[in-house]
Amino acid sequence: MSKTLNILIVGTGRMAGQHATRFAEINGVTVLAAVDVNLERVTDFCREHNIAHGYIDLDKALAEQRFDACAVVTPDAYHAPVSIACLKAGLPVLCEKPLSDSLDSAMTMVKAAEAAQQITMTNLSYRSSGALFKARTLVDSGELGEVRHVEASYRQSWLASDYWGDWKTEDAWLWRLSKAHGSLGVLGDVGIHILDYLCAGVGQDIAGLQCRLKTFEKAPDNKIGEYVLDANDSCTMNVELANGALGVVHMSRYYTGYMNDLVLTIHGTKGAVKVSTGNDGDQLMASLGDDMHAQRWTSVSCEDQPDTFERFVDALRAGSNVSPDFAHAARLQMYLSLAFDSHESGRWIDC
Ligand SMILES: NC(=O)c1ccc[n+]([C@@H]2O[C@H](COP(=O)([O-])OP(=O)(O)OC[C@H]3O[C@@H](n4cnc5c(N)ncnc54)[C@H](O)[C@@H]3O)[C@@H](O)[C@H]2O)c1
Repeated sequence: MSKTLNILIVGTGRMAGQHATRFAEINGVTVLAAVDVNLERVTDFCREHNIAHGYIDLDKALAEQRFDACAVVTPDAYHAPVSIACLKAGLPVLCEKPLSDSLDSAMTMVKAAEAAQQITMTNLSYRSSGALFKARTLVDSGELGEVRHVEASYRQSWLASDYWGDWKTEDAWLWRLSKAHGSLGVLGDVGIHILDYLCAGVGQDIAGLQCRLKTFEKAPDNKIGEYVLDANDSCTMNVELANGALGVVHMSRYYTGYMNDLVLTIHGTKGAVKVSTGNDGDQLMASLGDDMHAQRWTSVSCEDQPDTFERFVDALRAGSNVSPDFAHAARLQMYLSLAFDSHESGRWIDC
């Protein structure tokens, strides 16, 4: 029987509940403590998830308890300082996406991970999609032929729909709309997911891109309380992949009719696949061989893949690296950074 792994969760807002629940469901894993700068929030969180120790000071938690790993679930701007403190304390780190709020700080996190020689992972949660995994298998086996075109979208509509609540009154939505609160807008929030979904599905890096961002007027003076609503809401991108294939990428919080849907279509010289993950579940459609000539699409069955938490725990137990690690997430962060540069300059940029 392997030893119990004690996990520290830092940041106890919306997303942290999933970390606490999933870690607790894995045999031999205990969430020993949680940290949040908000005392009431961390106290409620520890009560709800039966966590023994709650702290408002990370250093105190690290000094008083013995952990085997840390999960960083703070807003993006705090991913770097919290992750680096935990790495320096000798802990493997699972950090939420995006890796950080700038390419410089993301690279500092990669260097800190290398110096500490600790396992790192980023929660690019859609890697658990069985449809995405199967699509990649089909690409790698050559069944699609040469990939020529990709189309990827991350569709949310919480700025128009009340399905997730009222964005105008909740901090958890307002910080995502405000640069001063560390948000990179829709590009940082879900753009990182769709760029990873695209690259993981097709098995290629992005070689060049051109990006256009839009921040729509949403409130008087585009401000609510302390929040200036200046982070981008919508993004379109043209990309070229390493093999020369062309692609278009969309991401938006105004994609009405969709609450949280990802879709990726990969077109090759021998056929195409369409992966979708969202409210209707995880699906893969293919038009290959005779189907491609008949312009027919058929559903392909897929097996669920282990999620981030299972794979992180497996890596801790095996003492081995796991993907997507901080270095991979930093490459995605570079795409985000270049996308901002492209928007500002209006130019195509090689990656
Ligand atoms: N992987 C995914 O699919 C996914 C989904 C949602 C959110 N996220 C990511 O999770 C992170 C948290 O998002 P959320 O929706 O839970 O936000 P949230 O605002 O609901 O919660 C963040 C919590 O962190 C706390 N906090 C702020 N600074 C801190 C610090 N320095 N130390 C400790 N605690 C601190 C806040 O008080 C708050 O309780 C973000 O980076 C977000 O991008 C990822």
